This record gives sequence, structure tokens and C-alpha cells, in this order.
Amino acid sequence: MMSDMNESARGIVVGITGASGALYAVRTVAALMSQGCSIDLVISDFGKRLIKDELGDEAAIESLPDYLRSKYGQTTDAGSLVIHSNRNVGATIASGSHLCDAMVIVPCSMKTLAGVAHGLSRNLIERSADVMLKERRTLVVVPRESPMSLPQLRNMVLCAESGAVMLPAMPAFYQGPRTLDDLADFMAGKILSALGFRHSLYPPWVGS
Ligand SMILES: Cc1cc2nc3c(=O)[nH]c(=O)nc-3n(C[C@H](O)[C@H](O)[C@H](O)COP(=O)(O)O)c2cc1C
Repeated sequence: MMSDMNESARGIVVGITGASGALYAVRTVAALMSQGCSIDLVISDFGKRLIKDELGDEAAIESLPDYLRSKYGQTTDAGSLVIHSNRNVGATIASGSHLCDAMVIVPCSMKTLAGVAHGLSRNLIERSADVMLKERRTLVVVPRESPMSLPQLRNMVLCAESGAVMLPAMPAFYQGPRTLDDLADFMAGKILSALGFRHSLYPPWVGS
């Protein structure tokens, strides 16, 4: 029920891994915070590296809340952000008894995709994803790789068969994007839609 989901603060786990597309990740976190969400954020070691490589030092984990506010505005203050170590598989979000609503892994590396597909739980991102699947909660996975090997394609199928929403980092161009931020808005909008939020990150298709 889309309308219900915007009316109460929701707990969302966000995992950021070492695939290209850090801009998608920060745009998604900012949009969820602007929706008033309580976010549990976990960034893998290569996720941290890609954030620095693609967005610069100012987006590094220590200064991320300030970066989000300066880039996306004070509406991000509507939400809250707790950052967990990916090594801490004893964190709250590692247990199904912790009542969060959904999780997104954006972007999702092929390594983490494999870990989720096979239930490996080697770190907090993989364990939290495993919890979402076993508890039948929403898990959105945003893989990025090109081209893809057969094992990678099979791992996407395994995740989909387990109930995950596979939402590849494939921005569209029919909306007439002019900037990288437009492309990131589109992907973040797709993710928010998959999580059940109303948003205005891209204009709805009006038909032709
Ligand atoms: C600059 C750079 C770009 C990368 N881009 C991708 C990518 O787009 N997709 C991918 O699956 N892996 C990519 N990788 C490889 C992953 O970062 C690597 O497999 C890493 O072990 C993933 O670990 P994680 O899932 O714990 O973050 C990239 C690595 C680097 C250094």
C-alpha cells in the first residue's frame, strides 16, 4: 500500500559495495532520508574506495551526512543515519528480531551478489540481505557489471527466485537526462518505487 508507506518513518538498510556507481548510492540514501527514513548504512571496504574514487574525499563515510545535506539539501535532515561496520555481524540488523522494513544494496558488486545468492553471510551486508530473504522482507539488489558471466547471470536468477527485486543499474534515456545527477535521480527513483515510496525523482511517463 503505497500511501501507507509514506505516512510513518520506515527503517531501511542500505548496503553500498565496490561496484561502480557511488552516485546512485548517495542519491538513494539522500532520497530515503528526505522521506524521513531511519537508515542503517553499511559500506564495504571497496564501497568506501569507490565512493572516494568517484565522488571525492568530501563524500567519505566520516563526512557523509554533511555531504548529503550540502548536495541534496536540508530535507535530508528528515531522516536519520546509523553507520555500521561491515565486519560487525553482531549488529542489530544481523538479526530477524530487529524490525526494519527493507534493504537495498546499491550498487551491488558481483562478489556480494554471489554471497547473497548463496546465503554466505560473510559480512554484515550479506548477513542483512540473508535476513531480508528469510524473513520475507523486501530486498532490492542493484547489480552493476558489463558484460556478465554465466555465473553472475545465474546468481541474479538465484536472488530473484529467493524473492529479491533485481533492479540493475540501467538508467533510461527517454526522460531526456542532461546530467549525471539526472541519471542518478532516475535510478534512485526506481529504487524508491521498488521500496514502495511515492517520489518525484523523475517525471512519470505520460504516454505518447
Ligand atoms: C575502480 C573499481 C571499479 C570496480 N567496479 C566494479 C563493478 O562495476 N562491478 C563489480 O562487480 N565489481 C567491480 N569492482 C570489483 C569489486 O570492487 C571487487 O570484486 C570487490 O572485492 C567487491 O567487494 P565488496 O562486494 O565487498 O564491495 C571494481 C573495483 C574497482 C577497484
